[in-house]
Amino acid sequence: MSKNMAWAGLLVGAILGLSGCGQTAKAPTVKVAAINDATLGLEKTSVYDVPTPPVTQYSKADPGTSASLGVSYHTAPPQVPHNIDDFVPVTRDNNMCAACHNTPDLIGAKLEKGQANPAPRSHYVGKTNDLYMGRWNCIQCHRPQSDAALLVESVFRPDKLN
Ligand code: HEC
Ligand code: HEC
Repeated sequence: MSKNMAWAGLLVGAILGLSGCGQTAKAPTVKVAAINDATLGLEKTSVYDVPTPPVTQYSKADPGTSASLGVSYHTAPPQVPHNIDDFVPVTRDNNMCAACHNTPDLIGAKLEKGQANPAPRSHYVGKTNDLYMGRWNCIQCHRPQSDAALLVESVFRPDKLN
């Protein structure tokens, strides 16, 4: 036997020893109660079922017939109270939202009933009163709300932040 072969033999022996090969180890029998998969998600059905979500409705009110939904907290974008089906998508060349709301001259003016409130000062560029293009895609920030039931009620109370 060459010196190299002897070393190799020693090595194999060491590995077998380390890995416990050749011993009759018994797998430990730990009893763990199976977790019911219906308790894993917010949906109280099995995670293997994918139930069709219930149909939810968005406001059908035409602009001019709805009322402000208010804002969630100071500086939050107000939600869209009226139907927007005919006004989306907002594209580079067509922005129906701006057609009604891009009215800087009306800021501070008394509005008639049903008149669109002007996008606020923050939405225009400096002295020119041009709509700031970073705000072009209105629905990036302003969203209509559906009547979907909340899975989890929000506990966020902006007045309790300080
Ligand atoms: C035909 C005119 C018209 C168009 C087009 C229109 N709106 Fe309006 N919008 C109104 C009017 C009028 C109101 C006031 C509520 C009412 O009377 O329905 C309003 C209210 C809002 C409000 C609520 C503001 C507040 O202070 O609560 C938001 C936000 C809004 N619109 C965003 C949008 C967005 C985004 C689009 C485009 C997807 C859009 N609007 C398209 C007329 C329009
Ligand atoms: C980057 C987010 C963002 C985008 C984009 C945006 N807005 Fe706003 N918008 C806001 C926020 C935040 C407010 C409320 C705070 C403020 O006055 O700036 C607001 C307020 C408003 C209001 C309420 C004004 C009032 O008197 O209460 C209207 C109307 C409005 N936006 C229309 C629009 C329209 C139309 C567009 C697209 C041309 C648009 N916004 C794009 C964030 C946005």
